Amino acid sequence: MSDVVLLTHEGPIGTLTINRPDKLNALNPDVLTGVSNALAECREKGTRCLIVTGAGKAFVAGADIAAMKDMKPEEAREFASLGHRVGHEMESQPFPIIAAINGFALGGGCELAMACDFAHASTKAKLGQPEVNLAVIPGFGGTQRLLRRVGVAMARELVYTGKMIGAEEAKRIGLVNDVHEPEALMPAVTKLAQTIAKKGPLAIAAAKRVILTGADEALPKANALEIDAFAGCFETADQKEGMAAFLEKREADFKGE
Ligand code: COA
Repeated sequence: MSDVVLLTHEGPIGTLTINRPDKLNALNPDVLTGVSNALAECREKGTRCLIVTGAGKAFVAGADIAAMKDMKPEEAREFASLGHRVGHEMESQPFPIIAAINGFALGGGCELAMACDFAHASTKAKLGQPEVNLAVIPGFGGTQRLLRRVGVAMARELVYTGKMIGAEEAKRIGLVNDVHEPEALMPAVTKLAQTIAKKGPLAIAAAKRVILTGADEALPKANALEIDAFAGCFETADQKEGMAAFLEKREADFKGE
């Protein structure tokens, strides 16, 4: 794996660190490919929850402006498609991904955070979609994921003004779930990951899938997806183990089977 993306594990919990601190972790094709490779490695390892964060003072300060400056439209299309593919891969993993936003999460950084299942932020975090300052628009899913997270009117305001917002405002509008003092961010997110990692992994995967796909469907179709996925849980050994453990008043031992 390239050193612009670091992947470490503690038991079933992975931490993926975007590691270009001298460029505030700006996303270029190498970083995006590194994220994609790290996701494949997590799948092979049976990761139960992944934390994504940034090295140094930024989470990710955006797509790499130096790499984009001279792009022709076809190259820009390819770059955006790569960013979208990685975002889709993040959403398609069977394990949840939590963004630990330690600093600037701008442009592609805000988009990377939104491709995670949810985000927590440090009080030092600054979020936004500043692309219009460069006379472009968000290209890694920002227009679409932002409106789904914070509503269409707030998404418009953020995208049209390119303004940066602080962590507390990001929490108020639902862009991050919670805010922590900088030194408390990773412990808080790790605790959440540990809680998730103890649950039945196939149930977590099913919940992730249904919440993601159901959100874009009309309610009757979305509810039908839930019924299918609920029934599917009863094909698993983990469901038998989970319910038996409850009735026998002991801790469940889930195998992901
Ligand atoms: N792409 C490429 N390089 C970037 C970058 C990006 N998105 N964001 C920061 N960098 C680089 C800077 O060019 C600088 O490199 P240098 O030391 O070789 O000159 C380095 O990272 C440090 O950034 P700097 O601007 O000096 O830090 P700062 O603390 O003064 O400002 C920001 C921080 C985040 C406000 C500022 O870097 C910024 O506005 N970045 C661009 C944000 C953006 O528009 N993102 C969307 C891109 S589509």
